[in-house]
Amino acid sequence: MTHTDDAVAPEQEHFDALIADDSRIEPRDWMPEAYRKTLTRQISQHAHSEIIGMQPEANWITRAPSLKRKSILMAKVQDEAGHGLYLYSSAETLGTPRPVLNDQLLTGRAKYSSIFNYPARTWADMGAIGWLVDGAAICNQVPLCRASYGPYGRAMVRICKEESFHQRQGWEILYELSHGTDAQKKMAQDAVDRFYGPALQMFGPPDADSPNSQQSMAWNIKRFSNDELRQRFVDMIVPQAEALGLTLPDPDLVWNEERQHYDYGELDWDEFMSVIKGRGPCSVQRMKRRREAHENGAWVREAAAAYAERQAARAAEAANHEDHETETAPSSQRPAAQLIGA
Ligand code: 3HC
Repeated sequence: MTHTDDAVAPEQEHFDALIADDSRIEPRDWMPEAYRKTLTRQISQHAHSEIIGMQPEANWITRAPSLKRKSILMAKVQDEAGHGLYLYSSAETLGTPRPVLNDQLLTGRAKYSSIFNYPARTWADMGAIGWLVDGAAICNQVPLCRASYGPYGRAMVRICKEESFHQRQGWEILYELSHGTDAQKKMAQDAVDRFYGPALQMFGPPDADSPNSQQSMAWNIKRFSNDELRQRFVDMIVPQAEALGLTLPDPDLVWNEERQHYDYGELDWDEFMSVIKGRGPCSVQRMKRRREAHENGAWVREAAAAYAERQAARAAEAANHEDHETETAPSSQRPAAQLIGA
């Protein structure tokens, strides 16, 4: 089908109407290539973040201070693996197979969240990651439950429920430490000091430097800009930090009566750019570990593929057998439709 330059193709018109109506786009629907591309980019980056994000916490499973803490942390890391899988499945519905997406991560062509390039040095970091990193993730991701692309929005609903539990467990770790011995309180404060800035950067660059936001908001993928969500997060954590008895490491953090929001200081955007270009403190280590895990898991993928092949062969054999039985069965046992030649 061809269209003149100024005529809007009917399929584009239908897509535009669905977006204007705040309806959902489903995999069967026609969509502009740019919409497909931006979603594949965002969802796959998100999936990669969940998978790489398992590393800083997995390092602490064997060092958790009690069996209870260990099992909670293990469950959390497993949730993150699950989030990665829902998100890869959601991205696949847009047409790019998972091995291709995985290859983009392993070859360093795809981004993942800047936050996971920072080290987790102490047990208190498990608390700061839960409270600040998962807290920022929830703030950013709750609006994504209403993303215009159906499979993404639906995946986000379950992810956000689990993230709420993650944030609570982080808060609880920090609360216990900040109400413990002086050394424990110091450890909690040190963790918050190191994770505060990078957690605020998770929302992405300032709006003026965010090339994708405007179009993503016009398509109802993102519902709020990076700065709007960052502000919402700052407003949320200031009273929470007070309840913890900890301080946030920003001398410019002050309530602005006129704006009815907290003002906060400039973040280190040079550091952010350097981290997302693969020069973060743990970038090399994270990618090395991911490649090793992928290689070590080769036998699992081979076994799963061999099993799937065998199941498919058995199903085909059973179907053949059934056809043969039906053809040779006495006419009284054949389905009526077959007897009348339908
Ligand atoms: N880390 C790494 N890259 C980032 C980034 C960050 N914190 N913030 C932005 N970027 C990248 C963007 O991906 C984009 O790169 P590209 O154009 O080369 O793909 C570039 O910087 C410009 O940024 P934009 O603001 O224009 O990009 P977006 O409109 O895509 O907004 C986003 C960035 C807010 C992160 C958005 O993609 C988003 O909301 N994504 C979904 C949520 C997500 O991926 N979260 C990651 C954390 S997952 C997590 O926290 C797991 C949990 O268990 C803790």
